[in-house]
Amino acid sequence: MRLTSKEARELLEHERNNSEDDRWINHCICVGDSAGKIAKALQDKGIDVDVDKAITLGYIHDIGKRFNEHGGVFPHAINGYNYIKELGYNEEYAGICIKHSFLNNDIDCISNDRDETDKTNPNYNFVKEYIKKEYSIEEKIINLCDLMCTTKTLTVEKRMIDLLLRHGVFAKTHYHIAETIKLKEYFDNLLGYNLYDLFPEIKENL
Ligand SMILES: [Fe+2]
Repeated sequence: MRLTSKEARELLEHERNNSEDDRWINHCICVGDSAGKIAKALQDKGIDVDVDKAITLGYIHDIGKRFNEHGGVFPHAINGYNYIKELGYNEEYAGICIKHSFLNNDIDCISNDRDETDKTNPNYNFVKEYIKKEYSIEEKIINLCDLMCTTKTLTVEKRMIDLLLRHGVFAKTHYHIAETIKLKEYFDNLLGYNLYDLFPEIKENL
């Protein structure tokens, strides 16, 4: 079943009643709305992008946080994936719940490895193989926007510092930062200009 951005937003807003802390919900809205802006700008350049799908994926990418299960990167990814599938939505919507956490199709390319990607986790091999599939352009936009958004849109550089300050520096941090910057440049090149131009408010958020 297809999921629209309107339905995704309703799914997300429904969680406000169940969440003590709704910052993750506002983060998802920021990711979805920022993704929509980038997708529309790419479309204006003649690139084949589904703007509504980009917004939809942004809204639901962290939906697994509704289960409030801690312990590294796996719980919110797997819980979100299963939840979206159980609701009957297509694989492409469920998949973002996993894919958004990993860059470069690599289970080791995560924003922090303080919990280490636990090789004994029963989902380890499933996730490792799952993210090897080519990411769609809408999925790549979500990867980038997740690294530009807290509850407001920031430069990736500021967001990286935000992550470093909150979590610290770990063995894979350098690799992850390098891949984040590559991803941002990938979209700058597609657009033919610096994508920060799409977000004038970014200067206020520095
Ligand atoms: Fe996120």
